[in-house]
This record gives sequence, C-alpha cells and structure tokens, in this order.
Amino acid sequence: MTHKALFETTLALQGERLHFAAHSHHMWPDRVIEAHGEAAMLGARLLDRKWDKLFGELLPRLSERVARRLGWPDPSGLVFGANTHEFLVRLCSTLPRDRPWRILTSDAEFYAALRQFSSWQENGVALIEQIPAEPLATFSERMIEAIGRGGHDLVMFSKVFFNSGWVVDDVDALVEAVPDPQTLVLIDAYHGFNALPMDYSRVAKRAFVTAGGYKYAMAGEGACFLACPPGICPRPVQTGWLASFGSLASFDVHGKLNYGVDGSRFAGATLDPTGLMRLDAALGLLDEEGLDPKALHAWVGALQSRVVKALPESGPMSRVSLFPGPEVPDRGHFLCFREPKAGQLKEALDSLGVQTDVRRDRLRLGFSLYHDQADVDRLLELLAQARASIS
Ligand SMILES: Cc1ncc(COP(=O)(O)O)c(C=O)c1O
Repeated sequence: MTHKALFETTLALQGERLHFAAHSHHMWPDRVIEAHGEAAMLGARLLDRKWDKLFGELLPRLSERVARRLGWPDPSGLVFGANTHEFLVRLCSTLPRDRPWRILTSDAEFYAALRQFSSWQENGVALIEQIPAEPLATFSERMIEAIGRGGHDLVMFSKVFFNSGWVVDDVDALVEAVPDPQTLVLIDAYHGFNALPMDYSRVAKRAFVTAGGYKYAMAGEGACFLACPPGICPRPVQTGWLASFGSLASFDVHGKLNYGVDGSRFAGATLDPTGLMRLDAALGLLDEEGLDPKALHAWVGALQSRVVKALPESGPMSRVSLFPGPEVPDRGHFLCFREPKAGQLKEALDSLGVQTDVRRDRLRLGFSLYHDQADVDRLLELLAQARASIS
C-alpha cells in the first residue's frame, strides 16, 4: 500500500531522490499546492472582502480541524499566527515587569524558544532554569520535581523533543504538578501535531499549546497556532489590531483596549493567510482520506520498525547509536542517531540521493505518508553504502 498519489507533483520533481527529512520540511500534498494558488486567486476575486471569507469561514473550520487533533474542547480558543515564537513572546508579555521572570524549561527546546530564553537571560529580563532532557527516561520525574518547587512565571516544555524524538507522555502530570495558579504553562507540541494522537482535553483549562504547519501538518510555513485556555491572560501586553477584530467599530484610541474573549485575544497584526489556507487544505484532505493522527502514527511506526529491525548491532547508524534506543516502543516521526561523524554521514547520504538532517551530533531520519516499504528498503541499502563510505 502507498499514499504517494497524494504527493504526485512533488514526488515527480524529486525523481529518484529519497526525502527522509519529513520531520523538518514536510512535502506538500498536491491539494496543498493548489490551495497556495487559490489563496492568491481569493484576493484577486474578492479583494478586501477576502477577509470576510477568511474570518467567517476558513478560520472557524480550521480551528475545528486543529482542535480535534489536539483534543481541545473549544475551537474558539485557537488563534493563528506566523510562527510559534510570536506566541511565546506575546504570552510572556503578560508577565510582571518589576523583576526578572522565572522560567522553567528543558534544555531540549527548539531554537526558537532556546534563543529567546538565552537573550532574555543575557539582558536581565528572565532567569532561566533548564532541566536536562537526558537521561530521557527520567525527564518527567525530574521536571515534575522542579515544577513542584513552584515560584515560576512560566513553565514550558515540548511534547516531543526535537533532538531525540522522545515523547513526553505524562503531560497531564506535568501540568498538574504546577502549584501556583498564576504560573503560565506552555506546551510546544510541534513535533507531535498531526503525527501522534494527542489529547489535551484534561489540561485545556490550564495550559497553552502551540504548534504549526511546517512539519507533520504538511502545510508549510506561516501557519502556526496557539490553543488558549479560557480566561488566562485576558489582556496580552504585546498586542496587535487583530486581537480586537470584533470590536474595531468601537475602537477608541484614548479608552481602555478591547480584547477578544476567545483565543483572538492573542492575535497579532495583519498576517498572510496563504499558509492557513494550505493548512486547512492539508487537514481537510487527511480528513477525507480517513488519515487521522492515529492512522498516520501507525503508518510511520511500521516504516520506522522496518528500519530499526534491519539496523546493524553496532557502528554508525546502528542499534547502539539509535537514540532513544530500539527498546523504546514509541517515538516521534523521526529516528535519531547519536553519531560522532553525523555531518559526514549526512553528506554521504546526500551524495547517494538521500536527504536527512543533522542537529549537532544527531542525525535525524524523518518518515511520513509519502514513504512506503519500497522506499524504506532502498533507504536501508543506501544506509549500508553510506556507512561503508565513511569507515
Ligand atoms: C519543537 C519545535 N518548536 C517550534 C518550532 C518552530 O518554531 P517557529 O515557528 O517559532 O519558527 C520547531 C521547528 O523546527 C520545533 O522543532
């Protein structure tokens, strides 16, 4: 079985090359490429009335599609923006300004957050405490202990670590461990969204969740979201005109600002809706095909297991360098290998026609719907050639 027909345009352009970096830049299905063109045509047809269509039809439908994949009870709690960084900054704009913020996080957050945290620390804006993600098996236990000490302004962690694929499966327990009601909680679900079955329904009154379209949601950049619990941070300090979209007619520059009461309170300013139209098209297509995150996870899991079973016992890209190891039953949609020669291996694979990526000493192989067993078998042959070429 194969799902390649959904990706015909891109696959044809790739020819013989194998793209095993779906965890980074995911291919766009044909339907998504079409939606990109339709976004331009929408403006051509409707001019400024396109916003009515967008806010009246597209965003409510997209909110429902995203909310379903998060188990988020109220789709109106969703707000869309260009990237997750935008939401992190806006969320933190609500924190006290008379002292440095206390932020508790892991040391395996994506650079978007990591760099911002470092900058805040460097500039005296925040004190950052990073709980090491490794050893992975005890991360949650150690994080829960740190969370339980309390006194934090923000607790932020990833659902799936970008540099290992480790799944934090006890999110509820982490959120429940937060003792202070004023502490903000932000979950970065990017590496889980539309990949793993996720259910945030039990924390949806307490935690914010962010993710976006570039990876497993197959929609490209400029299509991120924040799922907002009701009532928490009703008036973000960093704010743009879309945060009061519903009340523009009564906008008074000298009066108290109005904010939407739903997720729109976290909106920014004018955004390019093209990415959101692609995201809506991608999720709509998957709905039609009956490919929910459970089905996607099963598909990818089977391909990953095929690779793991065929790995050599030791040496480069082996059962020993697989991280987390082969005994871990569940992981994100990439296999991560800790390799002293990660860069060399990536280049060797690249010259053999296999696209992968490297983060420091970690080589990542990402799987998706556009791969099938035949691709995996070819990958295994090329992995053997790459290993031989660097030894
Ligand atoms: C875990 C995680 N969060 C967020 C992002 C994207 O961040 P942003 O949308 O701010 O560029 C990535 C991108 O690779 C990621 O891996």
